[in-house]
Amino acid sequence: MLLFLLLMGIVGPHCTSARTHSIKYFSTGSSGVTNFPEFVAVGLVDEVEMMHYDSNTKKAEPKQDWMSNITDEDPQYWEGQTQNSLSAQQLYKVGIETLKQRFNQTGG
Ligand SMILES: *[C@@H]1O[C@H](CO)[C@@H](O)[C@H](O)[C@H]1NC(C)=O
Ligand SMILES: *[C@@H]1O[C@H](CO)[C@@H](O)[C@H](O)[C@H]1NC(C)=O
Repeated sequence: MLLFLLLMGIVGPHCTSARTHSIKYFSTGSSGVTNFPEFVAVGLVDEVEMMHYDSNTKKAEPKQDWMSNITDEDPQYWEGQTQNSLSAQQLYKVGIETLKQRFNQTGG
């Protein structure tokens, strides 16, 4: 389960020219950390954040103009991303609870 959670971060190079670009997704689960949401997911292209979701807002949102415009071609895109993120949030919550039990931690 833990391995699966770690593998949810996807790293893949995407080449259209001689220059190499990257897309990365990071998902973070935590418990009892002050001023930090229990679940945060961010997407980056070339190290620049282009999408953000966290368990406080419960909404996947664009961080760049060109990501906002994705709804021109795919009107349901952000609802889909929100649903995927909500599912991941539930998975991470279960994973964190399991880890807390295995390592006798109450949080943090
Ligand atoms: C996004 O859409 C707006 C409104 O149609 C347009 O003005 C803008 O140039 C677009 N941005 C990108 C990066 O495609
Ligand atoms: C957690 O606590 C139980 C009961 O005290 C103990 O048997 C177990 O070794 C502990 N686990 C860890 C990872 O410290």
